[in-house]
Amino acid sequence: MQHAICYISTATSQFNNQEIENLLAEWREKNSNTDIKGILLFSEGHFFQVLEGEKEKVLALYYSIMEDPRHTNVIQVMGKDVSRGSLDGYVVEHLKTPGFSRPNLIRKYCESVKGMDPQTQQQIREILDSFIDTRSL
Ligand SMILES: Cc1cc2nc3c(=O)[nH]c(=O)nc-3n(C[C@H](O)[C@H](O)[C@H](O)COP(=O)(O)O)c2cc1C
Repeated sequence: MQHAICYISTATSQFNNQEIENLLAEWREKNSNTDIKGILLFSEGHFFQVLEGEKEKVLALYYSIMEDPRHTNVIQVMGKDVSRGSLDGYVVEHLKTPGFSRPNLIRKYCESVKGMDPQTQQQIREILDSFIDTRSL
């Protein structure tokens, strides 16, 4: 059974650019080993993450993420079994990356969720839109 979870949270410390890049790279690598797909964005001290994969693995990872002291105020905005398709890889962005633009970001995340069912895609897009809208890119 495939499962998808989406949450937002707030970082507890001031990561510098290099620290956040290193963490994102480390998690991307780990997720590719467990075949977990998703989106992880870090913007101005906030995380947005979508995780999708085999239900037991996704839940186990999510529980460990929830306990992680590097962030707080973890708010789950979606959690459901997904019947078909999957996210297309693991998109990880630090929104401070130079040259990064909103159209690029939107194109990228739309691409990455296109395998999910239409209702889930829509939910994720709406949440992401409001996440991104709170800052000027
Ligand atoms: C915002 C946030 C997102 C995270 N995302 C992932 C992730 O996608 N994959 C992952 O393996 N660990 C992620 N982690 C780290 C986990 O909370 C945890 O430290 C890690 O899974 C423990 O791995 P280990 O048991 O191999 O030491 C994240 C942590 C935070 C704070």
